[in-house]
Amino acid sequence: MLDPWYNKGVGGVRADYIEYITSILEELAEISDHIYLWGFPEVLARFVERIPRSHQLTAWLTWYYKNNPSVIRGWRSAQNACLHLSTPSSKLYPEHFLNSAQLELKAKGKLRYMPGPTSVIESPLLVGFVGRKEQTGHPAQKPQAVYEPLIKMSTKQGDLVFDPMCGSGTTGAVCRLMGRNAVLADISDEYVEIVRKRLMISPENA
Ligand SMILES: C[S@@+](CC[C@H](N)C(=O)[O-])C[C@H]1O[C@@H](n2cnc3c(N)ncnc32)[C@H](O)[C@@H]1O
Repeated sequence: MLDPWYNKGVGGVRADYIEYITSILEELAEISDHIYLWGFPEVLARFVERIPRSHQLTAWLTWYYKNNPSVIRGWRSAQNACLHLSTPSSKLYPEHFLNSAQLELKAKGKLRYMPGPTSVIESPLLVGFVGRKEQTGHPAQKPQAVYEPLIKMSTKQGDLVFDPMCGSGTTGAVCRLMGRNAVLADISDEYVEIVRKRLMISPENA
């Protein structure tokens, strides 16, 4: 899971931002069958031509939120995008999204097609009173509901997910709920402390 900083704030401003993130993508491609790269659409579009050779574009995902409180005059931003990149031999698990009736049909060999989840995930931004219990104070925290389908689609129980710019640790929280393992990192001590508290990890084990 790669949700980079927005080239401002913690992480600073880099003139070579696109090249830097591309180099991280290349390294992730060596260790992971699936990569999810997050960003605003206009930034993410630049990576479509920079996909590591070992991987292909499996899906362009959109996170759609209606509750952005922006007061800028004009269009109110309501989307974040995510490139799902994967190797040709990697496994996808659309069956993880079947309900009990569909699972029953599948067991009887009567499921005629596998209805996967939609590539647009609608979930509100964690602002104000929305998702109060989930909010950690991290300025760019993603809702767990947004990461859940991604992890469900590309992993099974016991698999390992790496998030090198984990922010508030959403990947870790979702992995814990879903019985996956996670390795998390962040450049900010303040955010690592947020993760530690959120996941109740003692300082000596962080
Ligand atoms: C968009 S936020 C991630 C938010 C996260 N997905 C969540 O749900 O909380 C990006 C994070 O990247 C971190 N970051 C910036 N530069 C980094 C670097 N070189 N190495 C590791 N983390 C970095 C920032 O501190 C920030 O927490």
